[in-house]
Amino acid sequence: MTLFRGVHHVGIGVSDMDKAMNFYGAILGFNRVEFDYTGPLPGMEKITGKPQINARVVMLASEDASPISFGMIKLVHLLPPDEPGPMPEGLGWGEVGVSEVAIGVQVLDDVHDDLIDNKGLRCILPTEWYPAPPFGVDTGLWYTEDPDGGKVEFIEWRGAFAGFQKKPRIDGVTHVGFGVSDMDRSLQYYRKLGFGETLFELDDVFESMSHWYSGPPPRQHMVMVANYHGAGAELVQHTPASKDMRGSWGHVGPMDFSISVGNLEQACDHVQQNGIELLGDPQTIKLPNGEWRYVFISEPDGNYVSLIEARF
Ligand SMILES: [Fe+2]
Repeated sequence: MTLFRGVHHVGIGVSDMDKAMNFYGAILGFNRVEFDYTGPLPGMEKITGKPQINARVVMLASEDASPISFGMIKLVHLLPPDEPGPMPEGLGWGEVGVSEVAIGVQVLDDVHDDLIDNKGLRCILPTEWYPAPPFGVDTGLWYTEDPDGGKVEFIEWRGAFAGFQKKPRIDGVTHVGFGVSDMDRSLQYYRKLGFGETLFELDDVFESMSHWYSGPPPRQHMVMVANYHGAGAELVQHTPASKDMRGSWGHVGPMDFSISVGNLEQACDHVQQNGIELLGDPQTIKLPNGEWRYVFISEPDGNYVSLIEARF
């Protein structure tokens, strides 16, 4: 087993936990509550600018998680004296900051029809199919939005696990999408964190996303990197460069992600030896069913990234 194990979860800020749990849990099938914690979140001063932050954090897993859709969803509701911030103004997709949570599905079109026709979800980018270069994997995707307007992608890689495609199903999280300002620099960084594989690389203007931008759609260079033990990371660089859309930590919509590690201390040593800074001391939050251990780390563009040792 490797020290780094891919993306463990995507963190999503929410304004109403019940609505969010209904959406991600009851509707999308992330029904397994790994933990439901309310209290202080230590070790985040460099991320939030505050000595202490209070939140309710619910970690949700899908019972249907598959080897290519292994990630969880972490819902974060900031509590007084803080409150969830708004989504960054003008946010489109692919600016620096987290753009989306992407969920794997099988039989994409059937899942689409069920979610739109029977569950009342809104389609904000219609289904497209294309062979993803350079390997030509048949890729289908469409987007909806969560109750706070956060972008949720559904994606199917047809043929990647052919034996799984017998019935329509929603898996776990396949990847997090986020913006970077220098693709080569960021790829070097994520390779150090165990994302050794490249699933696809695209460089184009995607007219289908035009309605997400206030001006002309930027050119998007996308590279999907992966680690076989967790969800992947989809890096996006805009040309021309767009504004920083990270927003404040805990804002509604997808806003951070965490990389799974087998041993937090070993991982901390490893990243520091590779020129990556710890943005605070490693933390351990006691849970009824175990411990949540994490540390936030420096990222080339200041994206909110943590390492997690999940003892739950
Ligand atoms: Fe994506």
